[in-house]
Amino acid sequence: MNSDKLVVGVVGAGAMGSGIAQVAAAAGHHVILGDANVNTFTRAHASIARALARDVDKGRLDEAGAEAALGRIADADDLSRGYQAFAECGVVIEAVVEDLAVKRTLFAGLERVVASECILATNTSSLSIAAIGGGCKRAERVLGIHFFNPAPVMPLVEIVPGVATSPAQLDVARALVDSWNKKTVIASDTPGFIVNRIARPFYSESLRQLEEGIADAATIDWAMRDIGGFRMGPFELMDFIGNDVNFAVTSSVFEAFFHDSRYRPALTQRRLVEAGRLGRKSGRGYYDYGEGAVQPEPTRDAAVGQAVVDRTLAMLVNSAVDAVHMRVASPADIETAMMKGVNYPRGLLAWGDEIGASVILERLESLSEEYREERYRPSPLLRRHVREGLKLSAHTQ
Ligand SMILES: NC(=O)c1ccc[n+]([C@@H]2O[C@H](COP(=O)([O-])OP(=O)(O)OC[C@H]3O[C@@H](n4cnc5c(N)ncnc54)[C@H](O)[C@@H]3O)[C@@H](O)[C@H]2O)c1
Repeated sequence: MNSDKLVVGVVGAGAMGSGIAQVAAAAGHHVILGDANVNTFTRAHASIARALARDVDKGRLDEAGAEAALGRIADADDLSRGYQAFAECGVVIEAVVEDLAVKRTLFAGLERVVASECILATNTSSLSIAAIGGGCKRAERVLGIHFFNPAPVMPLVEIVPGVATSPAQLDVARALVDSWNKKTVIASDTPGFIVNRIARPFYSESLRQLEEGIADAATIDWAMRDIGGFRMGPFELMDFIGNDVNFAVTSSVFEAFFHDSRYRPALTQRRLVEAGRLGRKSGRGYYDYGEGAVQPEPTRDAAVGQAVVDRTLAMLVNSAVDAVHMRVASPADIETAMMKGVNYPRGLLAWGDEIGASVILERLESLSEEYREERYRPSPLLRRHVREGLKLSAHTQ
């Protein structure tokens, strides 16, 4: 397949689909963009035009390049009449609503019109590639191409083969996305893939410490930012993402892991969602975004802050080591994914080495001892590394 000439289809022109269409068009592809809602194309086109204009302002693109990219994005028109508009596509990426039945129906419809080697990719965050591909006649061409929001800005893309995906299609898809100036990593078809699995304790262990009254949200945010070096604190980040979205991801990962308590959602977050305190978008979440609202001051107690960071980091490093243990991805891809997908200041395996694998293990054992909860169990691989004196980041180069 000649990727220079490949026509890219994008179905679903919402937040993610419009960003993905922009990325592909900016890389020189003709893009067919479709949505069940016929009015969405106009909105998506306008938002892509604005984003490209910002790129021009910032000197990342010249005006002719922006205009050409916009001109390469065509409307698939009314999808209720079928998917004929996608017949020439070499790859179709779906970014429709996160609903298995909808995605399966869409792929079945696309299969009727596209060529036999056309790749059908899903941008799903939480459904399995196996389940989406399971409804297709040729599941070997189905895989996950998981972008991060906003797609034109975030460098990471997780490429996720399902049980039936052919290695050849996987290679083609990865090479294609690499050619879009993205950093690709390969993730196994497991709940949350790499980033949304490993990052869970960033939120859940912060919520747990809030619930226990160890520190308030402003203090935890301050500690994770100023002492931990994270770009945003967990509560301000949840408010930014949307508490409904963050709660849905946590709940779906928890369900998909057969209720492993490591991934259990927090009641505090559920109550916020129930109360409509969704974060920035609803004007209130952990913080008040109303005009003139006075923001709570953190208690800048270095000992409390350090304890919060130590506990959360121990859980995050354990999460990364366990992902290596369960072969979710290579150690190198796990390091890259957390830095490029959620802007962590460094890779968690290297960070664990810096703190000391035995220190991380001691922290987890002390939490296990105190709470007697499965949630705090150290990964068997962490124990092995400590026993054998191996570096956690040994295979990341
Ligand atoms: N928003 C994120 O941060 C994010 C990040 C990574 C992945 N994702 C995944 O990307 C997908 C889309 O998310 P989003 O945030 O862009 O959602 P969105 O609600 O902004 O957009 C979804 C679009 O799909 C359209 N649609 C729904 N059913 C359709 C169908 N049958 N055919 C064609 N169009 C249809 C809707 O009209 C809507 O415009 C989901 O699978 C989500 O899990 C989202």
